[in-house]
Amino acid sequence: MNNLNPSEIVLMKKAGQITRDALNYCETLIKPGVSTKELDILVEKFIIDSGASPACKGYEGYPATICSSVNEMVVHGIPSYDCVLKEGDIVSIDLVVNYKGYHGDATRTFPVGKISDEKAKLIEVTKQCFFEGIKYLKIGHRLGEVSHAIQQHAEKNGFSVVRELVGHGIGKNMHEPPNVPNYGKVTDGPIITENACLAIEPMINMGQKEVWLVEDGWGVVTRDGKCSAHYENTVHVTKDGVEIFTL
Ligand code: MF3
Ligand code: CO
Repeated sequence: MNNLNPSEIVLMKKAGQITRDALNYCETLIKPGVSTKELDILVEKFIIDSGASPACKGYEGYPATICSSVNEMVVHGIPSYDCVLKEGDIVSIDLVVNYKGYHGDATRTFPVGKISDEKAKLIEVTKQCFFEGIKYLKIGHRLGEVSHAIQQHAEKNGFSVVRELVGHGIGKNMHEPPNVPNYGKVTDGPIITENACLAIEPMINMGQKEVWLVEDGWGVVTRDGKCSAHYENTVHVTKDGVEIFTL
């Protein structure tokens, strides 16, 4: 586990706040007729004006600040002027902020105008999966308990869990050990330790769990073309419970 010291935690908290504020700002911009590239430009400016930098931009060659994944896209949708949001869509906005060398990582799936009850349920259950999971994020427990709880909640609601993409430790780097799968057995994974910082991020499909990589080498879509939702926060394990930096 990546256990951070108190002065590092101060910076993680600030990175988390900027991440949260940038997502809340992005939410105000989402409406039918807006392209995901316009969102990207405005959110990038917001992050820079907040004294931070967009960590995804340039990461392994990723070309943008946000990942904007519409409907059947699970993650890593590259913003584009051609991708114009329309009434009834859902869009997952994933962004990572670097503040003085420390990272905040969070995702929300937003409705565009009025959406179907089915899509609203998918968004809600995906968020619930995160909160079900962190009930088990306790010092001395196994990380697999978190993963298992997420999977149970998704499947109980008739949805499926993506296997190819997982949560992660976070700190000086966007991605650090350990992996945090959204599926598995309670006996899986390492023992949770104090001051671990993790990005917990259920990615839940309405239909089947299988995904494809799209031609741009980044976007991941469901094979059955049904919708997917994503909910992520950066969290800190303490003696008193879980502190959520990005909420
Ligand atoms: N939030 C995503 C993650 O947890 C960000 C990755 S996009 C990338 O992995 F472009 F930076 F890779
Ligand atoms: Co992440």
